[in-house]
Amino acid sequence: MTNKYMYFIANWKMYGNLSSLNTLNKIIKFSKSKEINKGRLIYCPPYTLISAFSKKFKNCQIGIGGQNCHESISYGPYTGSVNAKMLKNIGAHFVIIGHSENREKGENDKLINLKIKNALLAKLKVIFCIGETLTQKKKKKTEFVLSKQIKVGLNSVKNKSNIFIAYEPVWSIGTGVVPKSKDLFKTINFIKSKFKDKSPKVFYGGSVNPQNINDLKEINNIDGFLIGGASQNTKKFIDIVKKTYT
Ligand code: PGA
Repeated sequence: MTNKYMYFIANWKMYGNLSSLNTLNKIIKFSKSKEINKGRLIYCPPYTLISAFSKKFKNCQIGIGGQNCHESISYGPYTGSVNAKMLKNIGAHFVIIGHSENREKGENDKLINLKIKNALLAKLKVIFCIGETLTQKKKKKTEFVLSKQIKVGLNSVKNKSNIFIAYEPVWSIGTGVVPKSKDLFKTINFIKSKFKDKSPKVFYGGSVNPQNINDLKEINNIDGFLIGGASQNTKKFIDIVKKTYT
């Protein structure tokens, strides 16, 4: 059981449409109840729903975030892209950057660094995703990979007070497989040890669900969870929060 201030981030990926707004009534009610304890809820819907979600959450404490942004802070001829300033303008407070689903499509650490810097300039809080692939894990390269992702991704980012790190092993995302508790504890500690002064908060993401949360919540160096699949079902998402605090 934990009594910590924890973050619960719903990453909706490319799911959801206007009819999803109805499913939010339950979470709004829950966010105002005592059961949420010290939990902070954040929704990252697709771009198309950010504005509508932000209106819907007007009178509650639920945060809103984008799932990515373009690396340029200026407007420009970038068909299909959205920058951090535009996200801020429609009500986002957070943005996920460096998700492995985007790294797989070619986003490298340098590009991620640019995105992070510009998102901070636009006054967004950044959920910076890092994580090793299964091959890297098998080759015992996890710490090497994470160190590089942190070093390059946060290069010349002096003030890290608006940075959150989400450790998401690629082999855990959407697979139902989560790292062993003792390995996860060690990796989160390793990530925190990379920061000389104060470490940013570090979340875990990858197949978090209402069943495995009972074990995950016992890992006391985790500061929150980035939840994909299970967050699209409001009941499951609420269950995860409730179980964290019972
Ligand atoms: P998952 O996704 O919970 O469906 O594994 C997590 C994520 O990709 O952020």
